[in-house]
Amino acid sequence: MDREPFDHLWIHARLATLDTKVSAPCGLLEDHALAVRGESIAAILPTNAPEVRAFRGAVTDCGGKFVTPGFIDCHTHLVWGGSRAADWESRLAGEPYTEIAKRGGGILSTVRATRAMTEDELLRAAFSRLRALVAEGVTCIEIKSGYGLTLDDERKMLRAARRVASECGIEVSPTLLAAHAVPPEFAGRADDYVTLICDEMIPAVASENLAEAVDVFCESIAFTPAQCDRIFTAAKKYRLAVKGHVEQLTNSHGAELIARHGGCSADHLEFLDDAGIAAIAKAGTVAVLLPSAFYFLREKQKPPVEKLRAAGVPMAVASDLNPGTSPFASLRLAMNMACVLYGLAPEEAFAGVTREAAKALGRSNRLGTLEAGKRGDFLVWDVAHLAEIVCQLGVNPLTERVVRGKSDNA
Ligand code: NIG
Ligand code: FE
Repeated sequence: MDREPFDHLWIHARLATLDTKVSAPCGLLEDHALAVRGESIAAILPTNAPEVRAFRGAVTDCGGKFVTPGFIDCHTHLVWGGSRAADWESRLAGEPYTEIAKRGGGILSTVRATRAMTEDELLRAAFSRLRALVAEGVTCIEIKSGYGLTLDDERKMLRAARRVASECGIEVSPTLLAAHAVPPEFAGRADDYVTLICDEMIPAVASENLAEAVDVFCESIAFTPAQCDRIFTAAKKYRLAVKGHVEQLTNSHGAELIARHGGCSADHLEFLDDAGIAAIAKAGTVAVLLPSAFYFLREKQKPPVEKLRAAGVPMAVASDLNPGTSPFASLRLAMNMACVLYGLAPEEAFAGVTREAAKALGRSNRLGTLEAGKRGDFLVWDVAHLAEIVCQLGVNPLTERVVRGKSDNA
């Protein structure tokens, strides 16, 4: 008996491949079929191709619906305890984010709440947030630690991150963000805390395989470039990727530092200058735009999107989901804001949560586009126009999610 070459075919689809080799906007292929074998995309063919017509296995007729790659949220702080609604009220009443941080609110108030919770409690708190992201198409997520700030509490967060992603059936890229804030027990001794990060936390987390990257908050209210440099040097010794929250509130030249270390992404970038753009362009570092944090902090300075575009820097878009500056469990909202607030074209927003986000997480070879050989992570959307996915919020036009070749409609 002849074995069928595929396990499952999705036919009559408008495939937004996001593959740069396909010249149409979003790499669109009209009336195509996507063939899955095992966990992978086996082929992309016109629906009327002989192989498609000869196929006798499982077929889903998309009836002209759009299909995109699974969305990748490449910057989140999904795991946390407590609430920062009171901080928000203070900000609305006029107190700046930096002042709230200096008086022990902000990140440190989340640290207190997170330290007080068990791994199971953190997992449960994160679960509903991740379910919301997954419901609108996220199939791979980066999750940072950074609210524990002791080795055990950071480990607890990273374990909760792995478990929550596995419970939701999606891939996780866990990141150690021990350099998020100076913990209270190290107040006035930031360099000693950095030594702890370099000498104990990074080696432990690397040896237990709890994180694949190390992140820093390089900012006037957090860590200096010299401290971040030490952390990146230690991270690379343990073969962990490096990235950073840089130029969010001021310009500390953190992006140049990331570029010098061959970092995978430089995130936020509102205050990025020309030297920073040139450095990340040369290093091939992805610029991760986080417009919902910009919106929620009522920031005024926008990242230099036009110059990044002109310099050919890949731009990803992420939710930055966190309790303080972006309490929004919606990547589509971030895409909408990237267009409305930052001037991205919808096509760039789609690339930002697929192809470029995969690059930011070092997963371009497996994820981010619809191409034969990539993983079978894709989304079927009931929209008449692709941009509707970004334009209209509050309704969810996602009709089918396929992860590792398996449909959740099956
Ligand atoms: O991405 N900038 C630092 N980190 C987060 C904020 C975290 C928080 O306020 O809890 C961010 O904006
Ligand atoms: Fe962040």
